[in-house]
Amino acid sequence: MPMQRALLKAYLWVLLIITFLPNCHAIDSWAQPSGQRRTAIRSQRDMLANVTIDEIPIVGVDLRHVLFSDNFTSSSNLNTNQTNTIYMNNLSDLLTAGVQGLVLDIEPNHGFWVVTNTTLLLSTFLDTLESFLLSTNDNLSADIIMLFLRPPVNLTLNSTVYHTHPQLNLTYILDQHLGSSRIYSPSILAADRAMGDAWDAFGESKTDGWPTLGTFLYTRKKRVLITDLSSKSNSTIDSPYIFPNTITHYSSGNMTSDCPNTLSALSYMSTVSFQFLEAVFNEDDISEYVSCGVSPIISNTYNVNSLSNIKTLLDKTVVWSWGEDEPTISNTKITIVKDTLEALNCAQLSFSSGTDSMTWQVANCYDNKRGLCRYKDHKYVWKLTKDDDNTYFSFDGRGDSKCPDDYVFAIPRTPLEEKAVLLYFRQQNITDIDAWIDLNSISVSNCWVTGGPYASCPYQKVVSRRNFVTMLLPVVICSFAILCIVLYLSILRTPIHDNRKNWRRIVNKISKAEFEGVPS
Ligand SMILES: *[C@@H]1O[C@H](CO)[C@@H](O)[C@H](O)[C@H]1NC(C)=O
Ligand SMILES: *[C@@H]1O[C@H](CO)[C@@H](O)[C@H](O)[C@H]1NC(C)=O
Ligand SMILES: *[C@@H]1O[C@H](CO)[C@@H](O)[C@H](O)[C@H]1NC(C)=O
Ligand SMILES: *[C@@H]1O[C@H](CO)[C@@H](O)[C@H](O)[C@H]1NC(C)=O
Ligand SMILES: *[C@@H]1O[C@H](CO)[C@@H](O)[C@H](O)[C@H]1NC(C)=O
Ligand SMILES: *[C@@H]1O[C@H](CO)[C@@H](O)[C@H](O)[C@H]1NC(C)=O
Ligand SMILES: *[C@@H]1O[C@H](CO)[C@@H](O)[C@H](O)[C@H]1NC(C)=O
Ligand SMILES: *[C@@H]1O[C@H](CO)[C@@H](O)[C@H](O)[C@H]1NC(C)=O
Ligand SMILES: *[C@@H]1O[C@H](CO)[C@@H](O)[C@H](O)[C@H]1NC(C)=O
Ligand SMILES: *[C@@H]1O[C@H](CO)[C@@H](O)[C@H](O)[C@H]1NC(C)=O
Ligand SMILES: *[C@@H]1O[C@H](CO)[C@@H](O)[C@H](O)[C@H]1NC(C)=O
Ligand SMILES: *[C@@H]1O[C@H](CO)[C@@H](O)[C@H](O)[C@H]1NC(C)=O
Repeated sequence: MPMQRALLKAYLWVLLIITFLPNCHAIDSWAQPSGQRRTAIRSQRDMLANVTIDEIPIVGVDLRHVLFSDNFTSSSNLNTNQTNTIYMNNLSDLLTAGVQGLVLDIEPNHGFWVVTNTTLLLSTFLDTLESFLLSTNDNLSADIIMLFLRPPVNLTLNSTVYHTHPQLNLTYILDQHLGSSRIYSPSILAADRAMGDAWDAFGESKTDGWPTLGTFLYTRKKRVLITDLSSKSNSTIDSPYIFPNTITHYSSGNMTSDCPNTLSALSYMSTVSFQFLEAVFNEDDISEYVSCGVSPIISNTYNVNSLSNIKTLLDKTVVWSWGEDEPTISNTKITIVKDTLEALNCAQLSFSSGTDSMTWQVANCYDNKRGLCRYKDHKYVWKLTKDDDNTYFSFDGRGDSKCPDDYVFAIPRTPLEEKAVLLYFRQQNITDIDAWIDLNSISVSNCWVTGGPYASCPYQKVVSRRNFVTMLLPVVICSFAILCIVLYLSILRTPIHDNRKNWRRIVNKISKAEFEGVPS
């Protein structure tokens, strides 16, 4: 009995300690972003609302290497259904972690499309993707997913085969398992272009342009763009939902162009739409590529057991803008610290020439700083104001900022725009600086918006509730665990009381021994 009691006590203590560990780690999978990281990802997306979809930075994976690399069906005693379930759980993890580009090899097999070299049906894959899209289908978390299909190169399927094998009809499969309403198709692009709702890199409405991310997500209400990577000219998998390879600039191995380091190189780079690089990356070079305007497609080799190691690459790239552990979550609005006002609701661009790094950071709106301005609509022409004595509120009042004529208070929205700021700083011999950028959470804490200090949070109600819930959920669960422990303890009150007595007796004994002198 005493043995059991001791074990029980030890168990309860372990429970208690685990409960008090920060954030209750056991609840999260490696892929689940923290509330803070979700805020960072969302604010990045929101800043991209007016950027065309061919220019937004995304992080992708080549699933052949990242997920389906080892043939573990044959080496384990799981049946194929079980392994496919594991694959699909891990795919959900990748999407949850912020991966937005999926490269998938597919092949026809006995009248079905399957993922190459596996028994996994394409339809099962699409079902998994669809449930992710459904679970993120609100203004807070909806974002674009780019799906690159790679069928065998010289595959020919003529339309008669569809009659005998309807499951080979990709249009049908996509309809049934992804939902045509979520797919941005070539015909919708054609309509957008005809209506003047497609733009080139310089904000001109063009017949070969692309819609902005905002139009794509909120006006057209689309989530997915599908490309056939296999063919240069005519798609082998002819479907009205699928774009040919020619829309992208997709390269493998080494980057074909240099990182832009002049204004004209930057301008040229932004005329190259959908720039992807499929390669084996390391922690250092991947962020370098992102800062040069290239979307990385990670083709490092992982498997279902080692997949979580991809986190080191994703950590550096999914959030490219904010610094580490930013944006710091602020719950209070204005506080008074040593007789000065403090409101941690404004963002600064922090540049350090030593590391050549530039990040967004949360700062006190009442600090005095210089501000960053952009020349009208020219996204690569920047200027830093001379005066460094402006609080956020005095820098940008209602409709009249301290920026020079023809310049507007702004924020670098893409890695290339940030590169332009970097070039400007270098040219001006600016070494280390913190400057105001047009990004703040003044109207609602943790809802980062652009448009000056009076901009309002577009999802005020949802965001405060959501943040609240996600921030409190672990706490609630922990408290519940504590409550259970307390209840348990009170049921077992007597034995524990006994134990306390025991302790007292032991303590008494020891102190007595000390008092009387330890016998040698
Ligand atoms: C997008 O453009 C509109 C109109 O110019 C502007 O009101 C809005 O603030 C811009 N949004 C972002 C995120 O830049
Ligand atoms: C994987 O294992 C299956 C069954 O053993 C086999 O048919 C298939 O060819 C293997 N694929 C590869 C890529 O080794
Ligand atoms: C796999 O799942 C399918 C349908 O869900 C079922 O018909 C089949 O029997 C399962 N196979 C195994 C080996 O469990
Ligand atoms: C499929 O398996 C074959 C044989 O192992 C291999 O050569 C090929 O690269 C694999 N294809 C994919 C897409 O994994
Ligand atoms: C989502 O955003 C769109 C466009 O900004 C808006 O029309 C819509 O009402 C929003 N939906 C919700 C639920 O807030
Ligand atoms: C595909 O077909 C072209 C010509 O039809 C041929 O030159 C090429 O070698 C083929 N590629 C493969 C991988 O079979
Ligand atoms: C399609 O393929 C079948 C056999 O697979 C062939 O008999 C038929 O002539 C082909 N049709 C066309 C239009 O190529
Ligand atoms: C493929 O499926 C789509 C949608 O179900 C259908 O409209 C189309 O006619 C099919 N194509 C062929 C060649 O059967
Ligand atoms: C591509 O398709 C177009 C029309 O659909 C056709 O005229 C052309 O010959 C095709 N090219 C190839 C290489 O098949
Ligand atoms: C990439 O560049 C390195 C060195 O610059 C070279 O050794 C390697 O062969 C290149 N790889 C490819 C795929 O071009
Ligand atoms: C992949 O999924 C399986 C089954 O859900 C899970 O046990 C495993 O931990 C996952 N792998 C990673 C790296 O998350
Ligand atoms: C920056 O420094 C270089 C060399 O020290 C000098 O030639 C140049 O005029 C400086 N530029 C500015 C804007 O001060």
